[in-house]
Amino acid sequence: MNGGGLTTTKAPFIENAIQAGKRFIDQPYELYSVDNHNAWRQLYERIKPRWERYAHHKFLEGVNNLALDPIAIPRLEDINQFLAPLSGFKAKGVSGYVPAYIFFDALRQREFPTTITIRDLNNLDYLPEPDIFHDVAGHVPMHTDRQFSDVLVRLGEVARTAANLAAETKDTAERVRRTENIIKAMARFFWFTIEFGLIRDKDKLKVYGSGLLSSFGELAHVVESSEFHRHPFQLEWVVNQYFEIDHFQPLLFIVDSFDHLYSEVDRFEQWMLEGRLNVVSPGEPLVNEEDLKSFLHLADSG
Ligand SMILES: [Fe+2]
Repeated sequence: MNGGGLTTTKAPFIENAIQAGKRFIDQPYELYSVDNHNAWRQLYERIKPRWERYAHHKFLEGVNNLALDPIAIPRLEDINQFLAPLSGFKAKGVSGYVPAYIFFDALRQREFPTTITIRDLNNLDYLPEPDIFHDVAGHVPMHTDRQFSDVLVRLGEVARTAANLAAETKDTAERVRRTENIIKAMARFFWFTIEFGLIRDKDKLKVYGSGLLSSFGELAHVVESSEFHRHPFQLEWVVNQYFEIDHFQPLLFIVDSFDHLYSEVDRFEQWMLEGRLNVVSPGEPLVNEEDLKSFLHLADSG
């Protein structure tokens, strides 16, 4: 079978879902091609030894607890059967990009918007957008941990606080300006923790960030390379530090524990309430119209 199957950017099923305005979708498992499953198998086989070496022990426990299939793309319903009793979290299929507020609000409800397509077998290292390997093999194992999953829920609550703050700001231009800055700060926080976070684990430096745990090359680089900055987590820096998604990060932040990470989310919210995130340094990531609108839905509805 050589068709597009459910290959990233080449899946008619996804195109149709987007055209029909469907954001949350089922996983049409029978549509995966042989090549799609091969891509999963190769990615998994290649990265497994690196996980054992570099991943936080909670991630490794998560991989076991989910009984992730090394040779075939997992079914989300199987994943969810293992996941639900552990943390109440659930992987929920999406057709693609999810506007920021909707994404965070799903986390608040213990639902993780999950991409169902997979990268091209002939281009395993090139990732134009998230795929099921990034989402399911990179993110979901951490969701089996109660403490970590509580951090995600807390981020969802912070997004709600941000939307409420926007709704309370009467002046329209001011509301847009502040909210754009807050979204930028939230995106940076998420990026430098959930996607690219490092953590101390029994006196060793380990990885818990999903962007790293699904990237074969970058995973070893961030722990081993001497041409790299690793700093204790510092909120001032995180919210003002721009990031670019198309090359290796030169700078990452280390938390002491998931408790520590949780307390930094609390602090983030506190800063937001004090107005300290109404202006952050400019630069990446850019906040697009849809992200902004998703956060302003309360203000716009009345
Ligand atoms: Fe991600």
